[in-house]
Amino acid sequence: MNFLIEAATKSLKKAYNPYSGLSVGCALKTSSGKIYDGVNIENSVFGLTMCAERVAVFKAVSEGNVDIEEIAVVASTGKPIYPCGACRQVLFEFNPKTKIHLSDEKILTLLEILPFAFSKDVFE
Ligand code: THU
Repeated sequence: MNFLIEAATKSLKKAYNPYSGLSVGCALKTSSGKIYDGVNIENSVFGLTMCAERVAVFKAVSEGNVDIEEIAVVASTGKPIYPCGACRQVLFEFNPKTKIHLSDEKILTLLEILPFAFSKDVFE
């Protein structure tokens, strides 16, 4: 099993999901060699819920690690989970070519899961 899938799976138990009961875990590796994980964190104000992918990426970036080399996302259902649109956009920012493991079934790039993305190229 891919080491990031393993890390994401291990993180599932930390999900805070009293409303949906769905646990989502994300793990990513940065060029510094560090692995960051993230889980979904729900809120009684449902719209304030934060996805696992954004928790992981914000942890990495806030520690100065923006060079994200590989990502994995898993869910407690055991089926592949596809990042929501907001998470795709946030992850795309750092490197569209980054590979993302969708459970142990598929490996795609961020560009493949978010074609025609709004990109920072627009500011060049
Ligand atoms: N969720 C994620 O953590 N990542 C996604 O990409 C989609 C959805 C979470 C948010 C919420 O806690 C639960 O899944 C149901 O939407």
